[in-house]
Amino acid sequence: MRPLIVANWKMNNGIKESLSYMEVFKPIVKDCNADIAICPPFSGISELKKSMKGTNIKIGAQNMHHEDNGAFTGEVSPQFLKELGCEYVIIGHSERRKHFNETDEFINKKLISALNYRLIPILCVGEDMAQRKKHETKRFIKKQLVAGLGKIGGADVRNIVIAYEPIWAIGTGNNATPDQAEDVHLHIRDLLSKIYGKSSTANVRILYGGSMKPENSKELMVMPNINGGLVGGASLDPKKFAEICMNV
Ligand code: PGA
Repeated sequence: MRPLIVANWKMNNGIKESLSYMEVFKPIVKDCNADIAICPPFSGISELKKSMKGTNIKIGAQNMHHEDNGAFTGEVSPQFLKELGCEYVIIGHSERRKHFNETDEFINKKLISALNYRLIPILCVGEDMAQRKKHETKRFIKKQLVAGLGKIGGADVRNIVIAYEPIWAIGTGNNATPDQAEDVHLHIRDLLSKIYGKSSTANVRILYGGSMKPENSKELMVMPNINGGLVGGASLDPKKFAEICMNV
């Protein structure tokens, strides 16, 4: 399966910084064997997209509302993301769940809406440290996954990407070990295949996220069910992010 490496810039990089980032990043990844996407803040999408013209790099958003338009002050619709040329959208990141109270039900609506607009949703799931210590990881991931996917069908599940991001590993410098991550990725793949059948889910890409960096990306990515990465902190440095992309 061709790996997918996604940069989640979070609330970092204005337009000027984004454009100088691309000047460094583009030439290094020009012959990359992975699919690459960058998810900048909304404000940078348009300019960044222009700077990607003629490259193998795709653009995505970090969030969206599920409605097409309407009285939702401060929100951005999937229609507008499509108009900007977005191909991917991150849905249900743990920071959105935590700081903006996003529920599984809300996340499911976004997922359905993204699929309707032919955006590739990257659905994020992951447990916190207390849950891991209590051996609740797999049960919790199942709950998030089942509720997040809701009633979407087997034909649609092929078009989504799942990101396993243990909360305790995000931004902490402490990544999950390759074995810890693979254990959950396999669990996710088994769940998907139980719900939708093997043929619909064998090619669903499951990304790992949580302190992925050039020093650990190779050992994580060789695991059979780790099909790429969702990279936060290390993606802010164009050389480091390029190294992760080239390391697949
Ligand atoms: P991190 O963030 O790489 O800084 O841990 C990953 C994420 O939150 O997507």
